[in-house]
Amino acid sequence: MRFWSAPLFCLLVGMVAQVCAVWWASASQAMMMEPMRLCRQRRVRQHLERNNFNDNGRHERLKSRQVEICRKEPKVLQEIVKGAQLGTKECQHQFRNRRWNCTTARKSLRKVIARDTRETAFVNAVVAAGVTYTVTQACSSGQLLQCTCDKTMKGVSPDGDWEWGGCADNVQHGYKKSREFMDAKYRKRSDLKTQVMLHNNEAGRLSVKNFMRTECKCHGLSGSCTLRTCWRKLPLFRDVATRLKEKFDGAAKVIPGNDGKTIIPEVASIKPPGREDLIYSEESPDFCNPDRVTGSLGTAGRVCNSTSPGVEGCELLCCGRGYETRTTKTRVNCHCRFKWCCEVTCKICTVKKHVNTCR
Ligand SMILES: *[C@@H]1O[C@H](CO)[C@@H](O)[C@H](O)[C@H]1NC(C)=O
Ligand SMILES: *[C@@H]1O[C@H](CO)[C@@H](O)[C@H](O)[C@H]1NC(C)=O
Repeated sequence: MRFWSAPLFCLLVGMVAQVCAVWWASASQAMMMEPMRLCRQRRVRQHLERNNFNDNGRHERLKSRQVEICRKEPKVLQEIVKGAQLGTKECQHQFRNRRWNCTTARKSLRKVIARDTRETAFVNAVVAAGVTYTVTQACSSGQLLQCTCDKTMKGVSPDGDWEWGGCADNVQHGYKKSREFMDAKYRKRSDLKTQVMLHNNEAGRLSVKNFMRTECKCHGLSGSCTLRTCWRKLPLFRDVATRLKEKFDGAAKVIPGNDGKTIIPEVASIKPPGREDLIYSEESPDFCNPDRVTGSLGTAGRVCNSTSPGVEGCELLCCGRGYETRTTKTRVNCHCRFKWCCEVTCKICTVKKHVNTCR
């Protein structure tokens, strides 16, 4: 049984079937990167072109509904998948030096998403942000029929220095699509984990929507800038993820409120989390050793820094188990000289490097 198509299937057909709820709950948003591969496979493309949805022998594994999804909303689907990938990639960058490094290997990410820890919060938020981002970008570049540049900002600035114009990134549409695809299924549920997830998805989307930049361009005779037009532009996604990482570090643990509907901070004295903050309800494992339940792969074999006191340092990263040092030799260009004109000559040197890996 392959699981990957379930979330997409549920998302795209409006999430009606009960069975979707079960599937969707157990599959991860990050798994969305898989279905697109299916849509791109040649046999699927041929299948689509022939417009023949009857599965015959060789296409047996291909459910006609899946084909239909590929056919009906391929562009949006593609952007959503790209968004999930963008989010996951940034997650890996932000956590590259930590015990949990957001690896997608061996179902690890899926296990992490099935829980309700800080890590779960971050992944949900960054994927929701990624989808907001890529759908918005697709609107601006004219790849989606249903949306274009945002033209709602009109007129001249209060000081008269510039006017709105150009192609503004349509973050409203990206935000809306991300919400539809990620949240709709859960709106009616009120258990703690669902509420936490919806909160974190929203925090992710807001980390894009609330941080739009204004970009301007000068017109007029060479550089005179007699006329300036400005438009709203997406922030850099790296900055979005960095902000979410800060929210991860300051995430608040929550518990169900007395009314059974709301969620409240576990520690009453802390400031209630805002809409852009990340929340979680379950303590994280230490990720030191492999654990099939938590999705931890352990840190044995990870490269660490023997002189750093931080999370990437061998002491913390290797969980006190110690580390091994290997010396590697690499050949690099060195003693380079510039010769008039125009040549650079170098020698080849061998550099020794020490690489530490956790035991
Ligand atoms: C992430 O960690 C796992 C195991 O802890 C390791 O196998 C993998 O290479 C790491 N990925 C990166 C990009 O460092
Ligand atoms: C290791 O950590 C030290 C201290 O934090 C830092 O100065 C050094 O650049 C790090 N080395 C590498 C290879 O990152």
